[in-house]
Amino acid sequence: MCGIVGILGKKPVAPLIVDALKRLEYRGYDSAGVATVEGGKLDRLRAKGKLVNLEQRLDENPLSGTIGIGHTRWATHGAPTEENAHPHFSSNVAVVHNGIIENFKPLREELTEAGFSFASQTDTEVIAHMVCHGINQGLSPEKAVHECVKKLEGAFALAILFREHDDLMFGARNGPPLAIGHGEGELFLGSDAIALSPFTNKITYLDDGDWCKLERDGYTVYDIDGNEVSRETQTSVGASLMVDKGNYRHFMQKEIFEQPEVISHALVHYLDFAEGKVRDIEGQPFDFSDFERLSITACGTASYAGQVAKYWFERYARLPVDIDVASEFRYREIPLSPNGLALVISQSGETADTLASLRYCKQEGQKIGAIVNAKDSTIARESDAIFPILAGPEIGVASTKAFTCQLSVLAALAIQAGRKRGKLSQEQEEQLVQELSETPRLASEVLKLEEQIDNLARDLSHYKHVLFLGRDTNYPLAMEGALKLKETSYIHAEAYAAGELKHGPIALIDEEMPVVVIAPYDHIFEKTVSNMQEVAARGGKIILITDERGAKEAAMDGAQIIIMPDMPQIITPILYAIPLQLLSYYAALHLGTDVDQPRNLAKSVTVE
Ligand code: G6P
Repeated sequence: MCGIVGILGKKPVAPLIVDALKRLEYRGYDSAGVATVEGGKLDRLRAKGKLVNLEQRLDENPLSGTIGIGHTRWATHGAPTEENAHPHFSSNVAVVHNGIIENFKPLREELTEAGFSFASQTDTEVIAHMVCHGINQGLSPEKAVHECVKKLEGAFALAILFREHDDLMFGARNGPPLAIGHGEGELFLGSDAIALSPFTNKITYLDDGDWCKLERDGYTVYDIDGNEVSRETQTSVGASLMVDKGNYRHFMQKEIFEQPEVISHALVHYLDFAEGKVRDIEGQPFDFSDFERLSITACGTASYAGQVAKYWFERYARLPVDIDVASEFRYREIPLSPNGLALVISQSGETADTLASLRYCKQEGQKIGAIVNAKDSTIARESDAIFPILAGPEIGVASTKAFTCQLSVLAALAIQAGRKRGKLSQEQEEQLVQELSETPRLASEVLKLEEQIDNLARDLSHYKHVLFLGRDTNYPLAMEGALKLKETSYIHAEAYAAGELKHGPIALIDEEMPVVVIAPYDHIFEKTVSNMQEVAARGGKIILITDERGAKEAAMDGAQIIIMPDMPQIITPILYAIPLQLLSYYAALHLGTDVDQPRNLAKSVTVE
């Protein structure tokens, strides 16, 4: 999604803004721009496509000015063209925006009647004209911004500049995050702490409804009624971790290979290995034994982690789970029993639909637990309990390490719930904890399969469609495998519960449709083998991901087999995710797609 940067600095800011925008590239974007003020003049440069295009323009025509705003745009209203790229101008105002202005049509009509003409198809341009309209009517910049934000409906994070003022910037937030960064005689605005990390790690996050005024010697935050409010300034830990690719070609590859380490961090936080139990998480304000039902909501990859967790909570804690993708959940008018528990899962902690579901659950009297990577995020702040996944910054748009860390945390919580609800004995808990503790070691083993998977991915990259099958926890894993392949390689992929094959998808099977089957040797292995036979009988090409025993028992001549190490059942979804990630990564590499920033995708989806 769009990224915002603003700098009130001491030296020319345009190159610094581009540098900060690079740190927001991971969010996904299709155009970019920067504007500065100098000598009573507003100037801007914008470019379609990647930041290198903008950099090239800046090299040819450098922008001077020690105050400026910049933006990476992920198109919502209007195609990703230069005219639609931000900053948007009115005669004396410049604005960058992340979000969607839902009432932009009536506002646009009003402004057109007032004599403003529009140069773009965006919803954002109304903001520049509205503020300008205020100024033209004699309002101060402050008043004009306040009047404007009061009229806006929808989601927005904004940074605003004025032609006449080279020591004045405004920010506003309703929905997507916006942070003020504090420097020495300098101030910054940014969509997140990572964007501001080259400049400062002292960060003040605005709350929803807040807007702020920045001048080099200080800042003021106001609420929507114009009252001055104070917001906490914190030292961001994430910010100091500069995110680079190290020796890897892509962030996705690096993040896949980090998994043994980050899963280990997550497990150490939740498991007491010496006692053989799941720790009581500090500050956890509820006990799983207090609830008779659990609702889980999330989007994308996080929702598949939730689907795996449903099997675990039901199996180990006998706790029934309702799960839905957040974009459906939030509008389903679902009746929730009083005093229920809702878990929301989100890497970024900012996904608009997940946040809306959280708020719905809160309103319905649920306790909220957030499984998040970004501990400073809105979702974390609005929850009763935060369960960090401790994956570290995830930059590749296609989620990898966040998924396996989410699963590691959810497995620990399901075990904790099993004990608290009296469904697991102490011995069973010890056994499961011991099994979970094997995950990092086995993850390193699985990563050794890289070369074989690279070869398989080369073959796979010649196909247009791929089917993924699995049963039990391997069914949501099949969905995650299909999603990953679509995201990174643009190959069409679908996932089915293996038992559903006969109810339609089998009609698709021919030699042009490879089928990836996820089937560790377990209590339902034989059933999955029957489904594989059905595929083989129709000429379908099979890639089977299993273990030694599974490979032997399946005896599938002609199948390509990825042999995983033996492992306990509870950790199979965590570890079987890794070959699926590698398969997608290498398929993308063979096809030459933009692995870390696939087309049209955004890392943090802050609009509906
Ligand atoms: C986007 C990302 C996905 C991610 C989903 C949910 O679609 O591209 O990788 O799974 O959002 O994001 P969240 O931050 O809430 O986990």
